[in-house]
Amino acid sequence: MVYNKSEVMDFVRRALGKNADGIYLSQRELNDGWEDSLYSDEDCSYAVNEWGADYETSRGISRFVIIPNDKDYVVKLPITGIYEEILSNEDEDEDEEEEEYKTRVIAKANEECDDPSADEISIYENASKLEKQILLQTIYVGDYNGIPVYVQQKITETLGHSDHDNDDISEDSRKIIRDTIRKATNGEWCSTPCPEMFVLDIINFYGIKKAQAMLKFLYTLDDLHSNNVGYINNRPVVVDYGGFAGSSYLWIWD
Ligand SMILES: Nc1ncnc2c1ncn2[C@@H]1O[C@H](COP(=O)(O)OP(=O)(O)OP(=O)(O)O)[C@@H](O)[C@H]1O
Ligand SMILES: [Mg+2]
Repeated sequence: MVYNKSEVMDFVRRALGKNADGIYLSQRELNDGWEDSLYSDEDCSYAVNEWGADYETSRGISRFVIIPNDKDYVVKLPITGIYEEILSNEDEDEDEEEEEYKTRVIAKANEECDDPSADEISIYENASKLEKQILLQTIYVGDYNGIPVYVQQKITETLGHSDHDNDDISEDSRKIIRDTIRKATNGEWCSTPCPEMFVLDIINFYGIKKAQAMLKFLYTLDDLHSNNVGYINNRPVVVDYGGFAGSSYLWIWD
């Protein structure tokens, strides 16, 4: 992975704006569901200036991710806080809009989030050589207006976006998956901490022995859903192992 600090900070400046002081998530209930927006400062400037940019963006519940088109890294920033839920009304007149805007500003960061990337750095440091093969290292680059900025190697795709499908697993493979998990967890069967398809990918890529040791370790992590794991070419890797650091409040739309 090749990156330099000023180039990384330039992506952050262009995505968040130069006056950004955090990344704030706001949610509104509309007639047909939820809409959520990211803001980057107290004046409610929209984060993500993507127009014609040489990067894409993504996010989870606790992080905002900048994905440069032509680089082999991604930039990850923790969501700083959450605005209060704001109910919107399709027929609102201008005065109400004004009031809503104020509510949103006053409600800034009513809930602060943890920084899962900081947790990942210590998990990675304490991991064995073998465990490190499946974790993608998170590297702290510096602060941007007080917002911690991290980079991580870019993956080819997440499991969720790949064509690997749980439904395609044969009965024989299912048995191998179950046996491997049993052995990894000392005979104690429990529901798999990551999708079965990913367990099979790990077995196929690393072999059963290494897979067992890796799974034992993966059982100590939280929240390994299909968009937290993926591949660099064919190598299975975990991109999000900091656990769930957002607010439980956010599960209303997930
Ligand atoms: N290294 C990477 N390469 C390419 N895309 C990535 C990478 N890391 C993250 N992403 C994309 O960004 C999304 C959000 O990243 P990540 O899972 O780290 O955020 P999060 O907020 O911690 O997630 P969660 O909602 O699971 O807590 C991922 O689901 C993935 O689509
Ligand atoms: Mg995630």
